[in-house]
Amino acid sequence: MISRAESAKLYDEAKHYFPGGVNSPVRAFRSVEGTPLFIKKGKGARIWDADGNEFIDFCCSWGPLILGHAHEGILEAIRSTIDNGTSFGAPSLQENELAKLIINNHRHIQKIRFVSSGTEAVMSAIRLARGATGKNKIIKFEGCYHGHVDALLVKAGSGLATFGVSTSAGIPESFAAETIVVPLNEPFALEQVLEEHHNDIAAIIIEPIPANNGLLLQNKSFLQYLRTKCDEFDCLLIFDEVISGFRAGFEGAAGKYDVRPDIITFGKIIGGGMPVGAFGGSHEIMSNISPDGQVYQAGTLSGNPVAMAAGRATLEACLTPGFYDRLAQKTDRLIKPIQDFVKANELPMRIQSIDSIFWLAFSHKRVMTADHIDADKMVNFKKLHAELLNRGVYVGPSGYEVGFVSEAHTEEDIDMASSAMVEALKVVFNK
Ligand SMILES: Cc1ncc(COP(=O)(O)O)c(C=O)c1O
Repeated sequence: MISRAESAKLYDEAKHYFPGGVNSPVRAFRSVEGTPLFIKKGKGARIWDADGNEFIDFCCSWGPLILGHAHEGILEAIRSTIDNGTSFGAPSLQENELAKLIINNHRHIQKIRFVSSGTEAVMSAIRLARGATGKNKIIKFEGCYHGHVDALLVKAGSGLATFGVSTSAGIPESFAAETIVVPLNEPFALEQVLEEHHNDIAAIIIEPIPANNGLLLQNKSFLQYLRTKCDEFDCLLIFDEVISGFRAGFEGAAGKYDVRPDIITFGKIIGGGMPVGAFGGSHEIMSNISPDGQVYQAGTLSGNPVAMAAGRATLEACLTPGFYDRLAQKTDRLIKPIQDFVKANELPMRIQSIDSIFWLAFSHKRVMTADHIDADKMVNFKKLHAELLNRGVYVGPSGYEVGFVSEAHTEEDIDMASSAMVEALKVVFNK
């Protein structure tokens, strides 16, 4: 067992300062064993905690670190920008440079607005959709997460397609009622909602690669169907690509599945580990945003030059030839031995993956919808997580979270982690 004494001490102290001792709930390790690790340092694919334990990291700050920790190119971009000041609240060259890079390399983005988080990007995209269509209701899918936006922090009530029931205290029922929740992969349910509310649907929002409740990969045909329906019912299609943007290829899921959304939201990778989000679309749609249009949106630190420089350094690296192929190959190399072990031992699990995202699902069958995840099986993840930490592998502390492979993972890291996962699974399943 690794020692977590120093982390435990810091965590006890943190509980005096922060609700639950953390600044974002999943960090509190509530669904796995032990106290959260306090991370002191990261370099490449490795992190070190306050007790000096070293881990190969597949959480990668929940996705932004596609180049790994403390990447020299990003640090250099930050250093050379920060020497001239940290924030001006006025336009800066760095905003143009990052925007140009994205717009020149992404077919569906003609104009973009930078914000400071994924939540802010989604919140603004929803307002934009309402402002542009003059309609109110939003359709979202059960199992997709879009940040802690009031109207989207909702789950389905009982029934196939229902008005949202808020999943957090502090959200008025009337806000939740503006959102209609439907299951993924159920065209029939969606059709019903569209027929019933066709005059008042502003947008359908989806994580085109749903990666916040396991990895609930959808068929391309379902995403194409959403496009068709949005055209038919005159509402907007929002792809929330906060995770998949710049990860499933530079053009994210929109490019991969060749489906055109009206608005795309970004976060995570776009800021290279600094707080950046964004939303964008066609000239026409984005012309609704203030000061050009009537949809108000603003931010003191939006387009922060230091964060823009980090984002640019990251996205430039993503554009180098073979970047995404290398990531996909590494991910295959990681999961193949685990899959072989699972198959040979007929374990009740499978690994679902796409590009450099993977998820350990405790199910024999492909999991495509939230209700197909068996919460009771998460006890396996709890054991697995502890076994992995003891073997020097760090994955996000919840079985509903996905793992990420970065450019910094070497073949040696991958092979070590893969063996550690097999050894950990032997303990979990007594093999
Ligand atoms: C798909 C998606 N949308 C929105 C968000 C919210 O982003 P942030 O945590 O930066 O507010 C997340 C965060 O995990 C996300 O995965």
